[in-house]
Amino acid sequence: MRTIAIIGGTGLNQFPNAVSQETIQVTTPYGAPSGKIQKLTLQGQSVYFLARHGQPHCLPPHQINYRANIHALHQLGVTDVFAVNAVGGITENAPTGQLCIPDQLIDYTWGREHTFSQQEEGNGLLSVQHIDFSYPFTESLRAVLIEQGHHLDLPMTDGGTYAATQGPRLETAAEIAKYERDGCDLVGMTAMPEAALARELNLNYASICLSVNPAAGKTTEEITMDDIRAVIDTGMHQVTQLLEASVHH
Ligand code: HPA
Repeated sequence: MRTIAIIGGTGLNQFPNAVSQETIQVTTPYGAPSGKIQKLTLQGQSVYFLARHGQPHCLPPHQINYRANIHALHQLGVTDVFAVNAVGGITENAPTGQLCIPDQLIDYTWGREHTFSQQEEGNGLLSVQHIDFSYPFTESLRAVLIEQGHHLDLPMTDGGTYAATQGPRLETAAEIAKYERDGCDLVGMTAMPEAALARELNLNYASICLSVNPAAGKTTEEITMDDIRAVIDTGMHQVTQLLEASVHH
């Protein structure tokens, strides 16, 4: 049986118009998750929802306890994770306002607790797990999102490479030019280590990225939070439509 969780990112701290069944405080060996996990009824189906940045407090990307978040979902029996990530657009695959379902990523983050394979005094770790991460997003979940997105006629790109950056500052134009040379289409701060941790615990994982601004150097305008917020308001409505359609499949 499939059990679905949604990890909401910037702009999706709670799921609009969903009936909440219960709110669950999960404890983990890695500390506390970003907040309580909500059990929602979405289109007649039970779905867990976790606000990555916390609700109501706001954790910056480098201070999110990704291990606790993924471990908590695993404890609840989650099998499939739909992650929502606001991103900057680098290439024409990710124009502002577009939804993108990435199929690759490059990890430029550093200093984050990024694995469950860690020898700590007394934790009894027996062997290091070298997970296969050739394809970091689960193809069957990506396929559901693409199919439902097409049904709904949403502006959506199938595939793309996600550059995971440390933040919380936005990038320099030279950094974005480098990521583009590396083959990246979009840039965000939260898909890693989340995607890798999900793989370590055998959870299916796919991301819905909403491009909320042209990445640094891709516009002559300053990138402001006001501009980003305006895109988020309309874009997240499309994201929630897509999720509602996808939780059935
Ligand atoms: N860079 C990194 N992360 C982001 C951006 C960006 O331009 N926009 C939204 N998240």
